[in-house]
Amino acid sequence: MSNIFILGSGSFGLAIANIAACVESNNVTVWSAFKDEIDALIKDREHKQKLPGVKISEKVRFTDDITKAQNADIIVFGIPSSFVRSVAKNVKPYTDNCKCIVNTGKGFDESTLKLLSVTIAEEIPDKPVVVLSGPSHAEEVAIGIPTAVVAASDDASSAQLVQDTFSTPTFRIYTGTDPKGCEIGGALKNIIALGAGVCDGLGCGDNTRAALMTRGMTEIARLGVAMGAKTETFAGLTGLGDLIVTCTSMHSRNRRAGILIGQGVSATDAVKQIGTVEGYHCCKAAHQIAKNYGVEMPITEGLYAVLFEGADAKDILGKLLSRPQKKEI
Ligand SMILES: NC(=O)c1ccc[n+]([C@@H]2O[C@H](COP(=O)([O-])OP(=O)(O)OC[C@H]3O[C@@H](n4cnc5c(N)ncnc54)[C@H](O)[C@@H]3O)[C@@H](O)[C@H]2O)c1
Repeated sequence: MSNIFILGSGSFGLAIANIAACVESNNVTVWSAFKDEIDALIKDREHKQKLPGVKISEKVRFTDDITKAQNADIIVFGIPSSFVRSVAKNVKPYTDNCKCIVNTGKGFDESTLKLLSVTIAEEIPDKPVVVLSGPSHAEEVAIGIPTAVVAASDDASSAQLVQDTFSTPTFRIYTGTDPKGCEIGGALKNIIALGAGVCDGLGCGDNTRAALMTRGMTEIARLGVAMGAKTETFAGLTGLGDLIVTCTSMHSRNRRAGILIGQGVSATDAVKQIGTVEGYHCCKAAHQIAKNYGVEMPITEGLYAVLFEGADAKDILGKLLSRPQKKEI
């Protein structure tokens, strides 16, 4: 019997709750900081704004009381990057019985530019952290559409525990030993998805998107390797896999925000309209991290200029295309 406590009752927290509930031996509780969100979930068993049309399993319990985490064997973070550190601080006193923490968030802690798993480990230092990542739109995970992801950790037995606890006939989990690479791929692909959306909004075509994705993967891997990740991780589910799904699907809020920006909506208005757009925050963080590591990331730099310096998206695309000619590899 595993007691699973999921922090965050948004799209992905609820999708993982539905997956966890498929395993008979799991007890699943979802927590939100917002009482009105929990009250609506108890009443409707559906999140009408974040995951409309998806019924949450009758097995899942809801609470706004974070002290209930104290019975949990596994605590899952389904929290946007901006709030991960504060939620980790709040849950820390109730983690004594917890065997491992799972991070599903994709981004960096903005104030320190650290990975979210590192942020969680700083706040809850005595527990192993597992990164659960890969091409996994909540809208599809939640209704049992076949999906494959990676549970990666420096602690092999915790990665195995997550694989054993959350695997279902439609949710296949591989274990991995490069949590840093898995997390960096998952975070940085959101920047490229925003960029792909901008190109779509500008009226570019499939060729443009394919070029952006491929050159985007090159710069993601370049920064990842400089930060200590393994090159081969970026060819896997959490790298290439997640990049493909995010850049090509209308489920992606990053891509949808990008399309609005390409069509002339300001970046701040686009983010306000769409909601959680991790690529926006991640672009700011990655721009600074790339500077710190001395790594060239032309697409990230171009998008940063559009999002935060008022540059014109069409001009930036022109600049990217007219960079000095070079060899591909
Ligand atoms: N949606 C997806 O398909 C998907 C897939 C994989 C990973 N992720 C990642 O999971 C994370 C969460 O994304 P999401 O799509 O579930 O977001 P969301 O906007 O749907 O939900 C966020 C939830 O976080 C909680 N929250 C928001 N602000 C908070 C605060 N100030 N304090 C405490 N809790 C707060 C609330 O319960 C809210 O419903 C992101 O990092 C995202 O990149 C999302």
